[in-house]
Amino acid sequence: MADQIRIGALISGGGTNLQAVMDACESCRISGKIVFVGSDNARAPGLERAAARRIPTFVVDYAAVFNSFKQAPGQVRPPDDFDLNDIFLKQSLFTDRDDPAKVKSFLTCRAIAEAGLLEEMKPYPFDLLILAGFMRNLTPYFIDRVNLPGGNPRIMNIHPALLPAFPGVDGYGDTFRYGCKVGGCTVHFIDYGEDSGPIIGQKAFQILEEDTLESVKEKGLKLEWQLYPECIRLFAQGRLKIVRPEQTLAGAKKSARNVVKIL
Ligand code: GAR
Repeated sequence: MADQIRIGALISGGGTNLQAVMDACESCRISGKIVFVGSDNARAPGLERAAARRIPTFVVDYAAVFNSFKQAPGQVRPPDDFDLNDIFLKQSLFTDRDDPAKVKSFLTCRAIAEAGLLEEMKPYPFDLLILAGFMRNLTPYFIDRVNLPGGNPRIMNIHPALLPAFPGVDGYGDTFRYGCKVGGCTVHFIDYGEDSGPIIGQKAFQILEEDTLESVKEKGLKLEWQLYPECIRLFAQGRLKIVRPEQTLAGAKKSARNVVKIL
């Protein structure tokens, strides 16, 4: 890996995590450089943050892709290298109880948008792809084209809850409404499931009686801005190793999960 890692980023919204990572690169807390920022949403304020740093940006309008697919499914073609059955068998975003026709249509539609992302990313070689508030699930079609065969995973995500609790789109909201007394955030590698990949780092905060959803989000975001750069720094230093459970826990074969060891 080069001295400075090249980081690509995908965002959907405000981009405060992106900002924290850009700041950490600029102040050399991360030996890295952001080489592109992509979004599924042309109005994401985070795009302006990137442009202000002269970082190349692009948009793949997921909503437009979904609309065309819905209106004329026969006319919007999946990418030539898309193998629906392979993706269907690999994915764990859905279970056997979900309608296979709906799942297949979801996966096809996503792959069309993801092929757009991959095309936009082509001019910018990168070592690590970070999801910084990117609110779309990625399918195995995309993941397999970013992760190098036989190599370590290289897509990272930050999630607003202490995984494996509260995966999904509203981590702080779910934590707060459940009445948890502790909330937190998690950075993990992406796998084929929803927020289910190997955990790299977590930070927690107390939820007090007087807290509101707003104050919980505020506490959480402040920790995210510390945690994400710390985890990316470990990646840049080559200190994240994926290990099989049997190497870490004697007789733990029951759990087939990979875990991250920090060297
Ligand atoms: C952050 O809280 C991040 O953890 C969350 O979106 C917010 C983005 O804020 N991500 C997810 O929920 C991913 N499922 P930002 O755009 O200001 O960084």
